[in-house]
Amino acid sequence: MTYARIIGTGSFLPEKVVTNADLEKSIETSDEWIRERTGIRRRHIAADGETTSEIGLRAAERAIEAAGIDAADIDLIVVGTATPDKIFPATACIIQRKLGIAGCAAYDVSAACSGFVYGLDVANRFIQTGGGRTALVIGAETLSRITNWEDRTTAVLFGDGAGAVVLQANEETGIISTHIHADGRAEELLHVPTGISIGYEAVQAGEAYIAMNGNAVFRKAVATLDSIARETLAGNGVDKHDLDWFIPHQANLRIIRAAAKKLDMPMERVVVTVDEHANTSAASIPLALDIAVRDGRIKRGELLLLEAFGAGFTWGSALLRY
Ligand code: COA
Repeated sequence: MTYARIIGTGSFLPEKVVTNADLEKSIETSDEWIRERTGIRRRHIAADGETTSEIGLRAAERAIEAAGIDAADIDLIVVGTATPDKIFPATACIIQRKLGIAGCAAYDVSAACSGFVYGLDVANRFIQTGGGRTALVIGAETLSRITNWEDRTTAVLFGDGAGAVVLQANEETGIISTHIHADGRAEELLHVPTGISIGYEAVQAGEAYIAMNGNAVFRKAVATLDSIARETLAGNGVDKHDLDWFIPHQANLRIIRAAAKKLDMPMERVVVTVDEHANTSAASIPLALDIAVRDGRIKRGELLLLEAFGAGFTWGSALLRY
């Protein structure tokens, strides 16, 4: 059996940090409200001209370096993003060029906060079916570009960043299974209500902003993360107590705690970065993974459950042996 194994991780955060106290100066909110309702303390925000491809590239370079491969070895680049540099070409193609390589397949996956897990699913199947040996999967976002900084119900929630993994074919261990789902009926609960074919004016005016029914999304996220965890564990005959690490999408600490509780996971075994990064959508899981790998928490051979939930709705998971 061929597995897709993570052989390198990387991440990158823009230099500029915006704290809750900074937001207090421009909108009617408070550090206390934001921390109590979301767990968020600060977020990184891309500088003018710092694009999704730029921060995605930096994360990819670190993952490639950690993997010890040559960029020319990559057979596939998948970028999960809801904030591509351009309408086209795909951000993956732009990153490919910036990596100084050409020829391998490169495309973006649009699954909002589930973009990285969707990308992992695609790359896993690509490697398992012999499409290639090495894949680069990136989650990268500049959500600050689609955030209305005057809307306190959303402005406090999001941040910018990127994370990446290099996957390689391995005969022994790696991704055990991936699971992805969507339910398009939830479109209006979490979306950017404008875009390209629906009407371009708001985009041109720089007013294409995230709109969300926070309460409904919260409830759905908690229920869905529970069901995808059950599906993943049952599908592999794995007991929840066998998991070493839980790496959920980082949207809200209360959602993460609820999901961990259902898994009977102590919070020491849950990777949490939402306090430092806020919700970086497709970037949040690979960012959290990279941080816990680099600080020595996650070790080779450990069993990891990754879980995502986002606009669409989309959701997914990956069970893997690191
Ligand atoms: N600062 C202060 N008050 C705020 C605020 C802010 N930034 N944002 C909203 N409020 C107010 C509301 O106006 C409301 O006031 P009211 O009761 O007078 O009407 C009150 O706080 C409570 O709002 P509510 O929306 O019920 O709060 P909540 O407990 O549901 O928390 C979220 C709001 C957005 C933090 C929460 O719903 C959430 O995290 N949802 C999921 C979001 C998410 O994960 N999205 C991405 C999924 S990938």
